[in-house]
This record gives sequence, structure tokens and C-alpha cells, in this order.
Amino acid sequence: MDAHAWDERYSQNDLVWGSPPNAVVVEQLTALPHGRALDLACGEGRNSLWLATRGWHVTGIDYSSVAIDKARTLASRSPRSVRERLDYRTGDITDAEWGESYDLALLIYVHLPRSQRNHAVRRAIDSLKPDGILMILGHDSSNLEHGVGGPQDPEILYTPEDLTHDLADAVRIDISERRLRETEAGTAIDALFIGRRPTLGTEVNRA
Ligand SMILES: C[S@@+](CC[C@H](N)C(=O)[O-])C[C@H]1O[C@@H](n2cnc3c(N)ncnc32)[C@H](O)[C@@H]1O
Repeated sequence: MDAHAWDERYSQNDLVWGSPPNAVVVEQLTALPHGRALDLACGEGRNSLWLATRGWHVTGIDYSSVAIDKARTLASRSPRSVRERLDYRTGDITDAEWGESYDLALLIYVHLPRSQRNHAVRRAIDSLKPDGILMILGHDSSNLEHGVGGPQDPEILYTPEDLTHDLADAVRIDISERRLRETEAGTAIDALFIGRRPTLGTEVNRA
């Protein structure tokens, strides 16, 4: 789907992904001290808003201007202190500028062809501080045959093994695993990957 198709989808519904944050984002990030976060392909901003309510300063980027408008509307109902911590921008995560020195970068259910995904993810890693956290969560390739929902194009799905293979030289890997998610239609299979940008002079992942 291109930006135009996403605009159409976001125009037809109230909140496509709902306003509560993703459950795995909450599970993995609740205990972290707040800092600066980058939410790439943030959609309607459910995860950005949750982070901002917890004290994070968040830059949220999506190429759907309809999604970004909806994210701003959702945020407008929050206290001023929360709104002031949110910076939403319309842009393509493969080439937009977003600055550096982030403590956290998120890519939640972002599905791009492998080379584009790697390009965007490596740009995200480059913008992290040393020890900054990269979190990727999306529909696992096995979801096509064994799960429910999500994109049906195998070219844009991935597995934890794909992410480990593609990113082992760039981050210290904390988590690379499949997660099952119960939905009304059945059990969906997700891939979860969490890594940290290495501090200067340290090795990444030992063989
Ligand atoms: C399934 S939604 C997920 C939104 C959000 N991360 C969430 O979890 O609620 C995927 C989003 O990726 C965005 N997207 C896809 N490719 C993009 C790109 N190259 N640059 C910016 N946004 C992109 C779409 O506009 C859409 O909002």
C-alpha cells in the first residue's frame, strides 16, 4: 500500500487501530525511564500518545497525512504537557529527516519490502544514542499459513530470524522471537525484535 492507499483507509474509519497502545509495546516499555522516542510509521499515534503520557518526548512520522491529522486530533484531547511532548510529522520513513540522539525507536506493524525495511531500520539505528533501544513488532511470515489477519504479501512479512540475520551486525539483540496474539478471528502470529545500539568500542553479537 502506498501513502494514497493508506490515506483512503484512514479516511474511511474512525480509528483504524484504536486508541489504546499496542499490548506488547506496553509490556516491553512500561518499566523504562522516559527519554526521546522515534515512532516510525506511527499511524494514528496510539503508541506515541501512550509514550508521551508517560513523559517521553516523541517524534511520530507517517507518510499518510490523514493518519497524522488523526494523531494530532487524538492528542488534542490530552493535557497540554502531553501535547507539548508530541511532534507529529508527515514523511516517508525511508528518506525523512528526524534528527538524532533518540533513546528509543519503534517500528510497529510496518511492512515494507526487505531492502526498504532494512534501509529504514538502519536509519533508525543510526539515530539512536549508544545503548538506545530498537523495537520492531510485526506480522510474522508464518501468519500467512498458520495465523489470521495482516498483509497477505509474503514479500513484506518477516520472521525473527530474518531480523536477526539482517541486524546482527548493527545492534546487540535482547529479544528475537514469535508472539501469539488472540484476536476475534483467531490466533495471529507476530515477530518481535528488540535490540540496543552498541556503545562505542563494544562488540555487537558474539558468534
Ligand atoms: C499497520 S499501520 C501501523 C501504525 C502504527 N505503527 C500502529 O501500530 O498503530 C502501518 C503504517 O505504516 C505507514 N507506512 C507504511 N510505509 C511507510 C513509509 N514508507 N513511510 C511512512 N509511513 C509508512 C502507513 O501509513 C500506516 O500508517
